[in-house]
Amino acid sequence: PEDCRVYEFAEKVNRTTGEVIKILFGLGKMVTKNDFLEKDEIEILADEFGVEVETINPLDELDYVSIYDAVEDEYLEERPPVITIMGHVDHGKTSLLDKIRESKVAEREAGGITQHVGAYQVEKDGKKITFIDTPGHEAFTEMRARGAQATDIVIIVVAADDGVKPQTVEALNHAKAADVPMIIAINKIDKPDANPDMVKSQLAELGYMPVDWGGEYEFVEVSAKSGQGIDDLLETIILQAEIMELKANPNRRAKAIVIESSLEKGRGPVATVILKNGTLRVGDNVICGRTFGRVRTILNDLGKQVKELGPSDPGVVVGLGEVPDAGEIMVAMDSDKQVRELAQKRAEYLRQKELSKSTKVTLDELGNLI
Ligand code: GTP
Ligand code: MG
Repeated sequence: PEDCRVYEFAEKVNRTTGEVIKILFGLGKMVTKNDFLEKDEIEILADEFGVEVETINPLDELDYVSIYDAVEDEYLEERPPVITIMGHVDHGKTSLLDKIRESKVAEREAGGITQHVGAYQVEKDGKKITFIDTPGHEAFTEMRARGAQATDIVIIVVAADDGVKPQTVEALNHAKAADVPMIIAINKIDKPDANPDMVKSQLAELGYMPVDWGGEYEFVEVSAKSGQGIDDLLETIILQAEIMELKANPNRRAKAIVIESSLEKGRGPVATVILKNGTLRVGDNVICGRTFGRVRTILNDLGKQVKELGPSDPGVVVGLGEVPDAGEIMVAMDSDKQVRELAQKRAEYLRQKELSKSTKVTLDELGNLI
């Protein structure tokens, strides 16, 4: 049952509401027949009554596949890797990405500090690579954690003249937690006081042994200033991606992850996304967390209008009713009606959850009242 109330559950398992309420009471939970049941409550009740249940939370990640979609394995195609760049503040993440893109994002940033997550795509020897830039400032832990979750491979940037710092360690931990392979880029090797061996031994001590020291971590020495080592870095990424055999099906409805979002004058809510699967097209009906809409405009990473995005492509989507939260999953469905209905269900579920939270009195609280 999805968003199931006490009386609905009782009906479904052929019991009285009284029996259900009694069991929950025995667990220290006071509920009325109209309250919504939590997933764990449903599981306990099902166990008590000896029935099997499958709980579906309308907020759970949706993997919508239409009857119009081609879903068989034979439609799987190679997709570009998504790479997240992380590391301590000022170690040169944005500069490195700039050099890779031969553009100038860092110069446009307020005070040279990245305060948001950017997503870009480059091509190397005919192969596309998608990059996510993240901020190194300590205040942005949340964005780094999200970046690690949306990615296939993490690049940890460490400045050769500064070595391992708190956010370097934090980034390593995010990559570990997300269980994604990582490549270490030792940056700023053009500097006279650069000491790549110091960086290597610091990381080796933390358990990240370089390949050339007999370990399993790829270290690449680079300079975002001179461009030295960048080809090496890109080749290492492509090799790693090949090992991973990353695939997706462009012939199905889109599923994308929101990297960042904002409300823009004249455009309304905009969401920067990376496609996890399928193809997203202008005109698609999409749901994204609590909000939904019809894709009005898609911009690619260069700000150019495009008609569609394929697997692993980054882009900006305009057309949602509200600003979605970063980290939320955007899914395209067949019709406006479908997305509206699901959005309504999600809103109702959340509203009821809030309500039942405020009216539910646990036995503990009751004890205090008596
Ligand atoms: P946050 O986004 O704030 O965490 O910083 P970041 O890691 O993106 O660093 P950013 O690219 O903004 O670079 C910080 C400073 O280091 C800038 O002044 C760059 O010019 C300089 N820098 C970056 N890479 C290199 C490099 O390879 N060599 C030298 N000499 N300077 C570099
Ligand atoms: Mg930056």
